Amino acid sequence: MKLAIFPGDGIGPEVIAEAVRVLDALFFPQLTLWEGDVGGIAYKRHGHPLPTETIEMACAADAVLFGAVGNPECDDLPREHRPEQAILGLRSELGLFANLRPAAGYPGLEDMSSLKPEIARGIDLLVVRELNGDVYFGDKGERASDGGREGWDAMSYNEAEVRRIAHTGFRAAQKRRGRLTSVDKANVLESSRIWRETVVEVAKDYPDVTLDHMYVDNAAMQIVRSPGQFDVILTGNLFGDILSDQASACVGSIGLMASASMGERQTEYGTFGLYEPIHGSAPDIAGQGKANPIAAILSLAMLLRHSLGREGEAGRIERAVAKVVAGDVRGADLGGTASTSQIGDAVLNALAAES
Ligand code: NAD
Ligand code: IPM
Ligand code: MN
Repeated sequence: MKLAIFPGDGIGPEVIAEAVRVLDALFFPQLTLWEGDVGGIAYKRHGHPLPTETIEMACAADAVLFGAVGNPECDDLPREHRPEQAILGLRSELGLFANLRPAAGYPGLEDMSSLKPEIARGIDLLVVRELNGDVYFGDKGERASDGGREGWDAMSYNEAEVRRIAHTGFRAAQKRRGRLTSVDKANVLESSRIWRETVVEVAKDYPDVTLDHMYVDNAAMQIVRSPGQFDVILTGNLFGDILSDQASACVGSIGLMASASMGERQTEYGTFGLYEPIHGSAPDIAGQGKANPIAAILSLAMLLRHSLGREGEAGRIERAVAKVVAGDVRGADLGGTASTSQIGDAVLNALAAES
């Protein structure tokens, strides 16, 4: 079993260090860990945010654990050299088209949600976000216009791209509560019209799943009005990016939300995937020990489940995290004073108490 670890920039290395402590505590003698550079740190060391060696390392591994990329010092570099290209490049090079972002409330944490506790209590949804298409990967550029310089980004989806992510969404709904809400902007966008028609087609294979459609503006409103109505939200790359950050504030903090990015490649142990918190490098708190490592630790749990076939250990981590989150060891994002490593300690203690 080979695991590639890409800590990245800002709080990435801080939160990944805690996830690695959890991994060490679980003791997998058969696991080989590799560490690679991505993002601003890779640009500084190798002149590129996604060096060839990093891509090769990811390809040779059974799974990737990713921290975060982004550095304000790099914001004015040409696009191909900006840290964010590392994560976009990995997602496309590795064919990771399906991004799973679960958002579930924790008993005992309702007071930290941006919503009223009785509304927050109902959140248990999964955002299934398409990750290889949309405006992220369309043609883009800058040109002269009558109004001065004009930036443009083409937004598109073809049927094949929608079909494969729709299957992921329907299968996820079958394993959950059997409801799928497809979120688009089909009243305005041609790419969304193809999206909706294709999702309706795919739905015929899943008579046991109840499908509905929602425009993205309404979905943003409904997620804060009554998140309990959602089971699986199936959506495109851009809408999924935005709605998942929003859902994290309904749970309590972006520092709690993990994600799995998967494609079709099977390994000896499961499906190859890249696992990362949904948050970024948080330059405003980097280097201060204030980052919540729970999202990174839960990303490790998803990795163990989906890519390494270790459901038992994944469940142990999730139960330990639930105990910690409901307790009083909380970081600044959840109204407490605990540092990144103190939260890591609490998870390790809860894990030890379990076994
Ligand atoms: P961000 O997610 O980094 O931070 C948003 C806010 O949430 C900040 O106030 C931050 O302090 C807080 N926050 C984030 N993670 C936290 C954690 N674990 N614990 C406590 N608080 C946390 O988003 P941003 O500020 O818009 O972006 C910063 C940089 O990160 C940018 O360069 C952006 O491009 C990049 N980014 C990268 C990824 C990724 O690597 N996948 C994801 C999102 C943003
Ligand atoms: C995320 C991030 C990325 C995205 C950026 C850093 C490219 O916001 O993983 O959610 O937009 O997908
Ligand atoms: Mn995002």
